Amino acid sequence: MRRYFVGGNWKCNNTIAQTQSLINTVINKLVFDVNKVEVAVAPIFLHVPWVQANIQKNVQVALQNSSLTKVGAYTGEISVEQVKDLAIPWVILGHSERRQYYGETNEIVGKKTRIALDYQLSVMACVGEKLAEREAGQTTQVIQAQLDAIKKELTTALWSKVVVAYEPVWAIGTGRTATPEQAQEVHAFIRGWLKSQIGTQAEQATRIIYGGSVTEKNAADLIKQPDLDGFLVGGAALKPGFADIVAAANDAR
Ligand code: PGA
Repeated sequence: MRRYFVGGNWKCNNTIAQTQSLINTVINKLVFDVNKVEVAVAPIFLHVPWVQANIQKNVQVALQNSSLTKVGAYTGEISVEQVKDLAIPWVILGHSERRQYYGETNEIVGKKTRIALDYQLSVMACVGEKLAEREAGQTTQVIQAQLDAIKKELTTALWSKVVVAYEPVWAIGTGRTATPEQAQEVHAFIRGWLKSQIGTQAEQATRIIYGGSVTEKNAADLIKQPDLDGFLVGGAALKPGFADIVAAANDAR
């Protein structure tokens, strides 16, 4: 049985005071069974040391990005060696906002994923189609190309440290959540891809989480889908409702 996974992607939000308040009033009050649900939150880089020092032990810390380059003369970057050095277990890679605003191609996302895994980080690898692609009937084709670029870089064994996040771009921050059926359809496709391209072990063990306007109102319905193993939550992860989203996963089975 796959353990559910709930990630909170805080994006480029919060002053340090706001992050402290979110940790103290929401995150440190979360109650869930770690045998059933894994929870990780991703603050901005600058807030990470404070968060690590003050977060409850059942919630892990994630980064929102890591570098394609290693330690050295790369002004403005944060390398995986440095992430590892601070014992940060998770990194989100290939988020659509990175792809859209910072030029991250499928190839770059594949390479970043391998570099992070080489340093024993676990990766939430994001994939998802744009609205025009969905309307043109290209959803699975787009996702397959995104997954293929990751596969190209990884050995089979490394997949055990990857969570795939399906995040339709048209659902991110729009309030337009995929229906449970729409999400399940793509999750099943991804699971089929894992089986045919990576193997039965990866098919059965890899968590496929959904992201895109997840809230406390829709989480319980989404989590009922057989191939949906949790969530990557943006806007709602900054609010008290995040506790209800974690609870929806905790109570799902
Ligand atoms: P959202 O963001 O929940 O605000 O739609 C999800 C994400 O971008 O990971």
